[in-house]
Amino acid sequence: MIPLYRQLTSAAGSSTEHAHASNWWTIESMKPIKAIVFDAYGTLFDVYSIGVLAEALFPGKGEALATLWRDRQIDYTRLRTLSGRYKPFDDVTRDALVFACKKLGIHLSEENCTALMDRYAKLPPFPENRQVLLALRARGLKLAILSNGNPTMLEIVVQGAGFAELFDHVLSADSARKFKTAPEAYALAAATLGFGVDEMVFVSSNCWDACGASWYGFPTFWVNRSVAPLEELDIKPEGEGRDLLDLLAFVSERSAMA
Ligand code: LAC
Repeated sequence: MIPLYRQLTSAAGSSTEHAHASNWWTIESMKPIKAIVFDAYGTLFDVYSIGVLAEALFPGKGEALATLWRDRQIDYTRLRTLSGRYKPFDDVTRDALVFACKKLGIHLSEENCTALMDRYAKLPPFPENRQVLLALRARGLKLAILSNGNPTMLEIVVQGAGFAELFDHVLSADSARKFKTAPEAYALAAATLGFGVDEMVFVSSNCWDACGASWYGFPTFWVNRSVAPLEELDIKPEGEGRDLLDLLAFVSERSAMA
């Protein structure tokens, strides 16, 4: 039996070799893909673009703020889920902004906090997304978002990008009151779409999220936009690329094999 993922990752240019054996999909076990489930922030919408406004507000500190803000936001989702202290993602995002500013010695006025949170609400999509989403729909695939973002946040960002008509479902971890990588959050996709977890591809630019989805049982595709190293979690996504265009190639290749 041929471990498919090696074929795909070598085609995508990956050099890492740390896959968990149980995550190696084989041609014989592969089911046709019926849906693609996307992470939102960082995958569809550019979270680090917030650094431009941050730099204009706090010269010399914009990039550091964007990075620390994102890191703390994700840290807080994990801490809250681990300790059963759920709070919606927009509140977590504001808390992380306040902390990141304190840590960087930035005075965050109410006005600047509002400006940054408003910009975060309307993060721009990556340029290739629309054409890829349209192409996937043209193949007859169902499309969904499964995000830590709470429903209001997701509705605003999806509508702002003009993506509302492209997705069959926009799912929020808020329904589980646990953030990814909790299994209860990933379970929302199968429960809503009605497909087996092995009939959907989960797509994320966050390696930890792609690994979490792989642990859950999804075939996964890591959109490694920042050319980051693979997380050391004893598992690796089935496919890897640099942007959503690479996802199209992955889906085509996989469909031809299934
Ligand atoms: C999300 C974050 C984790 O959209 O990117 O779920």
